[in-house]
Amino acid sequence: KEKTFVFHNGVELPNIGFGTWQIPNEEAYAAVTMALKNGYTHIDTALAYKNEENVGKAIKDFDLPREEIFITSKLPAQIKGYNETLEAFNTTITNLGVDYLDLYLIHAPWPWDAIGTDHTEGNIQSWKAMEKLYNDGKIRAIGVSNFTESDIQALIDACDIVPMVNQIPFYVGHDQEDLLTFCEKHNIVVEAYSPLATGQTLNSPEIKEMAKKYGVTPAQLCIRYCLERKTLPLPKSTHEERIIENSQLDFTISPEDVEKLNAVEDVRK
Ligand code: A2P
Repeated sequence: KEKTFVFHNGVELPNIGFGTWQIPNEEAYAAVTMALKNGYTHIDTALAYKNEENVGKAIKDFDLPREEIFITSKLPAQIKGYNETLEAFNTTITNLGVDYLDLYLIHAPWPWDAIGTDHTEGNIQSWKAMEKLYNDGKIRAIGVSNFTESDIQALIDACDIVPMVNQIPFYVGHDQEDLLTFCEKHNIVVEAYSPLATGQTLNSPEIKEMAKKYGVTPAQLCIRYCLERKTLPLPKSTHEERIIENSQLDFTISPEDVEKLNAVEDVRK
């Protein structure tokens, strides 16, 4: 049973992470504590989520050594540049109350209010800063999020370290096949955010029916699907019974059914 993913630098991480996007700071302490209590040891946050403080408090108060928890955070999408990146990283580790991160990602290739605009040079400068933090031992792995093939290729061409991760929206009906193939070729682990399409896949009749066949919930089927496609799911919930449910993935989906799920229509289109 696959328990871990391995980056191209040898760093290992649990095969499921607890996503904290859309969990407000006031709720983050309880949610992350529930996740840790129920066996999640991989927590994904970002400066932009505005919950790092309570994510960090929950981790600190929980009775596990720091090195047994895998913490990811992200450089805000609008921050591009070498010094700006070093500063934002410091803000993040101060918010979290940690002295190193396991994984740090460029949140997006462009600011959220200018999706699709070209920031290649800024991304390269940010990446160089992240390489420095990595080489200084402040981060165990570095990566990107929401990057296309050409966004990643620009970093590979201009910099020394190939990203260890690309974190992208990935769910049943939205499998980003070309990007997956590109990442696989470069040994880049794909992390699946919104593995339930923020909950929207759960009402699909096809998904409901197949879940019944496997004796699992639609959420479990959708999260397991990510693993079948070799992506690392980051489900989010603030409800304990769902947090537990989402990590119980001890079944496999047949290749034929994976094919069927690949062909499901995108709920968000
Ligand atoms: P809640 O946080 O209220 O439990 P995604 O991981 O794709 O972003 O989806 C998260 C959304 O799906 C949230 O609205 C979350 O609601 C809901 N959700 C998460 N897990 C489950 C589950 N097992 N069953 C039903 N809804 C879920």
